[in-house]
Amino acid sequence: MSELRVGLLGLGTIGTGVARILLQQESLISRRLGKPVRLVAAADRDLTRDRGIDLSGVRLGDDAMDVVRAEDVDLVVELIGGYEPARSFVVAALEHGKHVVTANKALIAKHGEELFALAADRGLAIGFEAAVGGGIPCLKALREGCAANAIQSIYGILNGTCNFILTKMEQEGAAYDAVLREAQALGYAEADPTFDVEGIDTAHKLAILAGMAFGARIRFDEVYTEGINRITPVDIAAAAELGYRIKLLGIAKPHDEQIEMRVHPTLVPFDSQLANVNDSYNAVMISGDFVEHTMYFGRGAGERPTASAVVADIMDIARAHPDGIGHLPPPMGFVDQARRDLATMPMADVACEYYVRLMVRDEPGVIAAVTSILADHRISLEAIMQKERHATNNVPVVMLTHETREGNLQAAIARITALDAVGDDALILRKESFAA
Ligand code: HSE
Repeated sequence: MSELRVGLLGLGTIGTGVARILLQQESLISRRLGKPVRLVAAADRDLTRDRGIDLSGVRLGDDAMDVVRAEDVDLVVELIGGYEPARSFVVAALEHGKHVVTANKALIAKHGEELFALAADRGLAIGFEAAVGGGIPCLKALREGCAANAIQSIYGILNGTCNFILTKMEQEGAAYDAVLREAQALGYAEADPTFDVEGIDTAHKLAILAGMAFGARIRFDEVYTEGINRITPVDIAAAAELGYRIKLLGIAKPHDEQIEMRVHPTLVPFDSQLANVNDSYNAVMISGDFVEHTMYFGRGAGERPTASAVVADIMDIARAHPDGIGHLPPPMGFVDQARRDLATMPMADVACEYYVRLMVRDEPGVIAAVTSILADHRISLEAIMQKERHATNNVPVVMLTHETREGNLQAAIARITALDAVGDDALILRKESFAA
């Protein structure tokens, strides 16, 4: 029996949560592992703030490299977030022979391949469960629980901040800015909340999920990404009238030698499980050829849930320490030489059903002109709805289409918005139907 000694980089929201669990659950963790996990050191630039935990038994400092180099640290937990300096500290930790656990999805999505190679070369483990879905053990489920399956699709509500904003906008008619501030105060949002609302955080997480699901190298830069900042109360109400709720989804599917990866606000039917995932909750639906549909639900952000996932990774590595990581699954769930460099499907080739909201002059012939262009492109409508006139403004016209290729839809919309009577501020959302 040998204890595992942990050093923390970052005592912000998640770092504080990890310290809290390691101290408060010390005896539970030890009973589960048959050995102790001890928090020996932590670094943060601000050591004056009261975090509401007793860190008197922990060596504190403001230099991350002191933790990375410490002789008495076996595992470094990176909770700084962002690309740099987090990447440099993780590289240095691996070079100093430390296992690494991180909650940093940006880091894994962008630099994961480099870090996995470095860790493998040195016989070290790298854990990142908390990077996707906060407290939900969805990576473990995908990597291990669903390992016998060819994965057919992934649908995820992967950003707590966006889900919180969309829920409050719908349920309380709340203003976007006020809800975003509330999400920041609750510790859900990224340091730069544009990462949340522009869909980048979801894209980080989707890229990791897709790589793991399909045995592919991570290609974050190729994920098609749209955020929630163009959604208006008009769209939320129109979608509701048609039987849908708007959620920011990450979607990944395999196609022969390509992977479809996209992040965008999506209309989901009210009676689907994903439509009923609200507030900061996240959910991931993973479908496999044998298991069929599986669904993982829980808190996607915040101190305690995210720290729960970080500590679970620490515990997995503690089981392997100090004998070696031979029995741990590979970080991306496939042996490295079996992982493939799969191309990302161009968005123009992706087939979807669409919600299109146009702002049009309320005059004869406009709808006929619009539908005639759609007919030219062989786009068939499932529903069309025109709302009453608002003073002198254009009126919203909302359409739902049957499935068509994105390139075809975009070409039709370009022609439609070029019409004199149609504003150039069309909103295009995609719609999904689910078997579960
Ligand atoms: N900013 C992220 C979110 C935190 O809102 O979900 C969890 O990754």
